[in-house]
Amino acid sequence: MISTEIIINLINSFKKNDRQEIDNVIKSLIETAEKRKQYKLAKKLRETYALTSENHFLPSSHTPSKFSNSHEQDSKLFEIRRSKIRIGDIILSDTNKETLQEIINNYKKRDLLRKHGLSNDSRLILHGPPGTGKTLFAYVIAGELGVPIYHVYLDSLISSYLGETGRNLKEIFREASTNDCILLLDEFDAIAKHRDDSQELGELKRVVTVLLQNIDDLSPDTILIAATNHDHLLDSAVWRRFDYALKMDVLSTPLRKSLIQMNLNKNNIDVSILAELSEGLSGAIIKQIINKSLRKSLLDKNASALEKILIENFLIETAGKNDKLKGGQRKNFIKAIKYLRKSDQSKYTFEKLEKITGISSSTIHNIINK
Ligand SMILES: Nc1ncnc2c1ncn2[C@@H]1O[C@H](COP(=O)(O)OP(=O)(O)OP(=O)(O)O)[C@@H](O)[C@H]1O
Ligand SMILES: [Mg+2]
Repeated sequence: MISTEIIINLINSFKKNDRQEIDNVIKSLIETAEKRKQYKLAKKLRETYALTSENHFLPSSHTPSKFSNSHEQDSKLFEIRRSKIRIGDIILSDTNKETLQEIINNYKKRDLLRKHGLSNDSRLILHGPPGTGKTLFAYVIAGELGVPIYHVYLDSLISSYLGETGRNLKEIFREASTNDCILLLDEFDAIAKHRDDSQELGELKRVVTVLLQNIDDLSPDTILIAATNHDHLLDSAVWRRFDYALKMDVLSTPLRKSLIQMNLNKNNIDVSILAELSEGLSGAIIKQIINKSLRKSLLDKNASALEKILIENFLIETAGKNDKLKGGQRKNFIKAIKYLRKSDQSKYTFEKLEKITGISSSTIHNIINK
């Protein structure tokens, strides 16, 4: 309930036409609602006020209003972003795609679900090696739902000033709870990583408690996504807070083929050999190699055709960094080496091929003449 005092203050400030005072009264109204965990009311008030006010105080800046940041530092701790990334921009296994679609649909239909006493299950943890699309996954959900994403860099937040982390976390969760949004806790394993530092152990335990409590209390209108490369560091108390745990991994050959096709755009290239050559590489590295190759083919007048540059660059990344080539992979490398050699013998000398692949020129000689 709104207190009589606030209503009287509001009427008085309207009478005086004092804009500043009106702002203050409405702010305190919203804060009271938030303190009482009346997030729906707080959200409605914010939205209504934003429509009528020119200098509204909705979180439009990159840091929440009461975010304490008394220490000088450059690293990013927290950002609010809008995303235009859609489902078509991510390549996923069938299981992960299904979960993505389910989370989006459940969120869109959350009112209907709640009417029937069902939750929209909005807590998700993504785990897997670097560059496999965990952050991208969160941005796809934000883009599909048209809601902002609160991107929290947990590692920077904890390591920069542990003493203030608990307060800052509460503030971030409070702000996120009053908006329809995605709350992305990136580098989530940071809560476990700092455990070895015995000096900070007590403080860290408090931070973990605050974090888990806030996860429990989070409004279901906020989709919580945690992302980590180090799932083994997290204990069961953390895992059971999430409705979904998704493993993001390096992609299968057909999915790599789709990823390469997507990144090559309209370039008319047979991507089968590239898909085979890129086995074991993350989506991020594959994208990097493609961009590097596209740049070279565009800017370097003496560059060979794009297809050859791509094969060369994938070989450098995979064969060049692998001491022992396994069965299937070895076959693909041989195929690629033969392809390059056949396409241009004067450019792809045995020495040049040794440089690209790290395989001795005499071995390459034997391979090609077999
Ligand atoms: N499955 C994928 N589909 C499409 N693009 C991908 C995929 N995986 C990675 N990428 C590309 O690589 C970039 C980096 O991926 P992203 O940052 O999401 O990886 P991550 O798993 O969050 O890595 P990290 O663990 O290092 O934070 C993406 O922006 C995208 O361009
Ligand atoms: Mg990431």
